[in-house]
Amino acid sequence: MVSKDVYYIGVSDSDIRTFDIIMKTSNGTTYNAYLIKTTDGFILLDTVKEEFSNTFFEKIESICSYDEIKYIVMHHLEPDHSGALPELVRRVPNAKIFISPMATNMFKSITKIDNMNFETVWTNKNLTLGDKTLKFLSTPNLHWPETMSSYLVEDKILFSGDVFGSHYYDNRVFDDLVGDFDYSFKYYYDHIMRPFKSDVLNALKLYDSLDIAIIAPLHGPIIRSNPQKYISLYRQWSTKESKHHDKKIVSIFYVTSYKNTQLMAQKMYEGVEDVNNIIANIYDLSALDEHNMLDILEESTGVLIGTPTINGDAPKPVWELLGCMMLLEKKGKVGGSFGSFGWSGEAPDMIHQRMKSLNFRVPMNPLKVKLIPTIDELEECYGFGREFGEIVDGKMVEMTL
Ligand code: FEO
Repeated sequence: MVSKDVYYIGVSDSDIRTFDIIMKTSNGTTYNAYLIKTTDGFILLDTVKEEFSNTFFEKIESICSYDEIKYIVMHHLEPDHSGALPELVRRVPNAKIFISPMATNMFKSITKIDNMNFETVWTNKNLTLGDKTLKFLSTPNLHWPETMSSYLVEDKILFSGDVFGSHYYDNRVFDDLVGDFDYSFKYYYDHIMRPFKSDVLNALKLYDSLDIAIIAPLHGPIIRSNPQKYISLYRQWSTKESKHHDKKIVSIFYVTSYKNTQLMAQKMYEGVEDVNNIIANIYDLSALDEHNMLDILEESTGVLIGTPTINGDAPKPVWELLGCMMLLEKKGKVGGSFGSFGWSGEAPDMIHQRMKSLNFRVPMNPLKVKLIPTIDELEECYGFGREFGEIVDGKMVEMTL
């Protein structure tokens, strides 16, 4: 039991070692779901991954009959939580289902049932059944557009969705009983929530207005010993603090074969550094660890990437840098690319397009130089860096295609 009237009906996936392709799960994971008992019937919160459906339904049947379930709330529709939903709807056809407005289309395509009995809800909407009240909270983008949370007023339980989750299975279930899962809590934040820091802070504003005794997430331990500790960690990790206070950072990353792209990078660095409110950084990507790339990218408002063209492509360290971006918030970042080339020279154009598709603002066409930059071309690099710095500082320009 999570509390006197709230049952845990989640399942464990103890053998899983990779989640969603990108996450390692040395302790497996859980798919958490809950049943709330009221004086007028039950409210069911979320389901589980399809392959664990039998255990899920056995747990429900040990607590109540299907016709006692009056409402179903789906905080998140990713298949690890909606896998058992179509079968649940078949077993509980009369229960009304609550989802966020953004979930509507996905919900219809998951259930594939016409005339579904559902309603969309958002912050300030409540569900009251018997002696219990569930307040809905709109918490979009954590980590899908349709995610939401809810709060059970009488029991002071926050059902947070994926927020505050961990991929960590331990059959003792509660944070004060399980092993040390702090590493997993941070790892989960870094891979799932870090790209949505602004949305995390918006959710925390909603949570701050609640008296939370227990956090019941969709994965990992249920947090009841010190929920404020975990709320504070999310706040700390999501708050952007710059060492340079009012100055913005432009980071120049380059790889170089014959020092030509490096020469260009150096001149761009000088141009950027000459802009008053900007701090310039410069890094040789071929000797930079991914972990460090992430931290630097996160602090940088402007990102310039210099690359030669090798066999018609940018070399691997450049793509590794771009691969990191999926773990970061890109909102408000400005990008640009440049490079020396021998024959075809398309790599800076590829990087330019890639940054655009990652939602960087990319206001300047790539600057390309054939082999060794001349004195005039190095001056052009200086000017490019300077103009890029001014744009990061707020100068308005027309966007390139
Ligand atoms: Fe746990 Fe986003 O699914």
